[in-house]
Amino acid sequence: VFAHVVKAPEDPILGVTVAYNNDPSPVKLNLGVGAYRTEEGKPLVLNVVRRAEQQLVNDRSRVKEYLPITGLAEFNKLSAKLMFGADSPAIKENRVTTVQCLSGTGSLRVGGEFLARHYHERTIYIPQPTWGNHPKIFSLAGLSVKTYRYYDPATRGLNFQGLLEDLGSAPSGAVVLLHACAHNPTGVDPTIQQWEKIRQLMRSKRLLPFFDSAYQGFASGNLDTDAKPVRMFVADGGECLLAQSYAKNMGLYGERVGALSIVCNTADVANRVESQLKLVTRPMFSNPPIHGASIVATILRDRNMYDEWTVELKAMAERIISMRQKLFDALQTRGTPGDWSHIIKQIGMFTFTGLNKEQVAFMTKEYHIYMTSDGRISMAGLSSKTIPHLADAMHAAVTR
Ligand code: LMR
Repeated sequence: VFAHVVKAPEDPILGVTVAYNNDPSPVKLNLGVGAYRTEEGKPLVLNVVRRAEQQLVNDRSRVKEYLPITGLAEFNKLSAKLMFGADSPAIKENRVTTVQCLSGTGSLRVGGEFLARHYHERTIYIPQPTWGNHPKIFSLAGLSVKTYRYYDPATRGLNFQGLLEDLGSAPSGAVVLLHACAHNPTGVDPTIQQWEKIRQLMRSKRLLPFFDSAYQGFASGNLDTDAKPVRMFVADGGECLLAQSYAKNMGLYGERVGALSIVCNTADVANRVESQLKLVTRPMFSNPPIHGASIVATILRDRNMYDEWTVELKAMAERIISMRQKLFDALQTRGTPGDWSHIIKQIGMFTFTGLNKEQVAFMTKEYHIYMTSDGRISMAGLSSKTIPHLADAMHAAVTR
């Protein structure tokens, strides 16, 4: 009965790892998926995460009972506080509902399904380009997906005018997906002044912000700095949605830890919204897993562990920033034609190199360097040792 099933293509991002794993070359390099590697090219489990896990294992009173549908209550509280700030009026006034979900993807999906059921405007505007999973998540959730201009290939920066025009002509009430910081795949973020203009425009048109925060702490190395755009929107008293992921900033990738927050107008509305979020989650995954959320809660509740986390997070962010400079310098040394200053200007885990599909295919075939076909490279996958190889490949790709 399944004979008609056609083979689906690999995922544009996760499929890069599949191709990489199949390559026997000793010099192969995976710059596809956004996953942090050490200078030695190894995955990193943060020390503070190990400490938290040890503490959890030693606690014999812990059991494996189901969490509530909304997840671990303390994790939810602390997650909201991490993004909105300890003294956020929205939290104090109990206008925020936060539910634990399966990392960023699960949080976006639950938020999308809630909007499709309970919000009057079914259109969501996503940036062009954006993370490849966004359009699929929202269309399967039942929303109609449109794009707004975001990136300007000519400047390899923000197309701010295009963004304002497209949001300005969006229907009143439309949902707008915003990357909270460290835009994926471009590494291009609005300045704080530009964020303020975006906020004013969106509020005046009653556009509903849906923030995707996958990199808090990774853009600047500081959790509060990276939370600023979201806090600006919450400070004006308006509503918004927020999907948070701890995959990158706590290195909890495979633990699938995340949260969806919905900031409402009143505590009563937030309470009713939460009751509906439970109806979305229950038939989807019943209730979220306990381990990863317990790690996060253990770290966020303890001043000492929290501080240790911020130090480790900053070290990851700084290593990525140093890779930017090193790659830029390596291309300068080789006299590679073109302006490569965007490598040091862009922020977060990725550089949107500007390399085209053919150049990417050439680098994969001849240099065993794996990256997404849009020319995005994960800076977090680079090390001082592998930069010369990448720079050689890029040089060869643009001069051939
Ligand atoms: C990425 O963009 O590489 C990450 O967000 C991982 C993923 O799930 O795609």
